[in-house]
Amino acid sequence: SIKGFIFDLDGVVTDTAEYHYQAWKRLADELGIPFTREENEALRGIPRRESLLMLLKGRTYPETTLDELMERKNRYYLEYIRAISPRDLLPGARELLQEIRAAGLKAALGSASKNAREVIERLGIADLFDAIADGYSVTRQKPAPDLFLHAAALLGLPPTECAVVEDATAGVEAALAGGFTVIGIGPHERVGRAHLVLPSLAGVSLSKLLEQLSVSA
Ligand code: BG6
Ligand code: MG
Repeated sequence: SIKGFIFDLDGVVTDTAEYHYQAWKRLADELGIPFTREENEALRGIPRRESLLMLLKGRTYPETTLDELMERKNRYYLEYIRAISPRDLLPGARELLQEIRAAGLKAALGSASKNAREVIERLGIADLFDAIADGYSVTRQKPAPDLFLHAAALLGLPPTECAVVEDATAGVEAALAGGFTVIGIGPHERVGRAHLVLPSLAGVSLSKLLEQLSVSA
C-alpha cells in the first residue's frame, strides 16, 4: 500500500512553467530565435541544459557560451520567482500535503529544478516535506528514474510504496521506469500513461485518492 508521496514541483504544486517560459522567451528574443508558448510546453520537466539545446534548435555555440546562456536564463527566472508567495500554490496542493502528514504518511519533493528549495520556501510549504530531491540530487535527469528513486530512499520507502505526482511526460516516464505508482496531473496527451490521471489537485482528498489508486494501479 502507499505510504509516501513524491511531488514534482513545477506544474504540480505551483505554476512556475509560466516563469520558465518568460525567462526562456527573454533569452530567445535576445538571441533573435523565435520561441512560442507552445514550444515551451515541450520543455515541461526538462532540465535546464536540455531546454537550452531545444530552444537553440540546432544552432551551435561554444561550451562557455552555453554556460553563460544558462546562467542568464536562470538570472531572469530568479528575478521572476522573487514575487512568488503562498498565493501561488495551485489549488489543493497544500491541503493534500497537510492531509498526508496528518495521516502519518510521508511526503517528498522530486523536482529537476535547482531552484526548488527557494520556490517551496517562498510558497511557505517547505516544512510539509520530509525529504527534498532536486536538481542537485542526481546526475541522470527525468525520464531516468534516478531522482524519484533518490527521493524514495530519503523517505526510507521502496518505490512500490510511493506514489509520484507529475505533470510532465518525462516525469511520468521516470516514475514508471522506477516502479512507482503514478498520478498524472493534466491532459491525457501529456500524462496519459500514468496509473491515474487528474485535471488538477483541486478538491482531491487523500482518502479518495488512495481509494482510486488501489483500484487503478
Ligand atoms: C523542471 C521544470 O522542474 O525543472 C523545467 O519543469 C526546468 O522547466 C527544470 O527546466 C530545471 O529547472 P532549473 O530551475 O534548475 O533551471
Ligand atoms: Mg513539472
